[in-house]
Amino acid sequence: MNAPLVLRHVSKAYASVRALNDVSFSVGPGEFAVLLGPSGAGKSTVFRCLTRLAHVDEGDIEVHGQALQNLSGAALRHARRSIGLIFQQHNLIGRLSAMNNVLTGRLAGMPTWRVLGRRFAAADRQAALTCLDRVGLLDKAYLRADALSGGQQQRVAIARVLAQEGSVVLADEPVASLDPESARHVLATLRSVARDQGIAVLCSLHQVGLAREFADRLIGIKAGSIVFDGAPSSIDLAAEQALYGQGSQGDASVPETPPDRRKPSPDVLANAAA
Ligand SMILES: Nc1ncnc2c1ncn2[C@@H]1O[C@H](COP(=O)(O)OP(=O)(O)O)[C@@H](O)[C@H]1O
Ligand SMILES: [Mg+2]
Repeated sequence: MNAPLVLRHVSKAYASVRALNDVSFSVGPGEFAVLLGPSGAGKSTVFRCLTRLAHVDEGDIEVHGQALQNLSGAALRHARRSIGLIFQQHNLIGRLSAMNNVLTGRLAGMPTWRVLGRRFAAADRQAALTCLDRVGLLDKAYLRADALSGGQQQRVAIARVLAQEGSVVLADEPVASLDPESARHVLATLRSVARDQGIAVLCSLHQVGLAREFADRLIGIKAGSIVFDGAPSSIDLAAEQALYGQGSQGDASVPETPPDRRKPSPDVLANAAA
């Protein structure tokens, strides 16, 4: 069987910037693959190509065995519907309940009059509640989205892609604006979505620690090129250092303390007391 998501020899340039250089990898059903790389590595460009927001210059992309470049009209809409998207900013509608946000994931197959009036069938409402339950937010179903924490909102966004019933989920830095605890909760939720629903999940991160902890598979990208691809246990420190440069711990989630926030030295304290 074809993997749900396949990139073959994909290259992409923006004017003079070569953003992707001969990128090939695939993501299988039920796999939680993390695209790991520093800022500017080309992660978002991979997602833009996968959603056809950007056209590839060379190579091809297949979703469920269909070449994305060749699709148009109904076939393209169908392919897009099979791909759930999660962004750094969750893109929920703040004034709608968590439940109604999840229901918007089902809009693709729904007549316009029902969308506008938001009269969802009982079966759709039940499906939305099931999706919220899966991300652990059933008790928040009727709260406004903007009353939820950042991590909870991101989990509503995951419930929304579940309601869409696609078989591929793309998440571009979904935890970039979350505190570490919420980030771990969101990544655990995404991983269980992959495992329990057999969905192919591609998630970009820039934090090595989180990537190692949650990924089934780590795909390292630097300056537009894949530098490693394998199980987290097979990626050694040297490969990690190659990704982030010599001497780096590669974990941007733990910023260095700026000099002015460091504890003053005893000398400084002694001078201040004098
Ligand atoms: N619209 C654009 N026009 C020109 N250059 C771009 C554009 N978008 C991204 N780039 C460049 O392409 C490279 C990859 O960017 P991006 O895919 O956003 O990286 P990442 O998501 O890993 O931070 C960077 O050098 C970036 O400056
Ligand atoms: Mg990016």
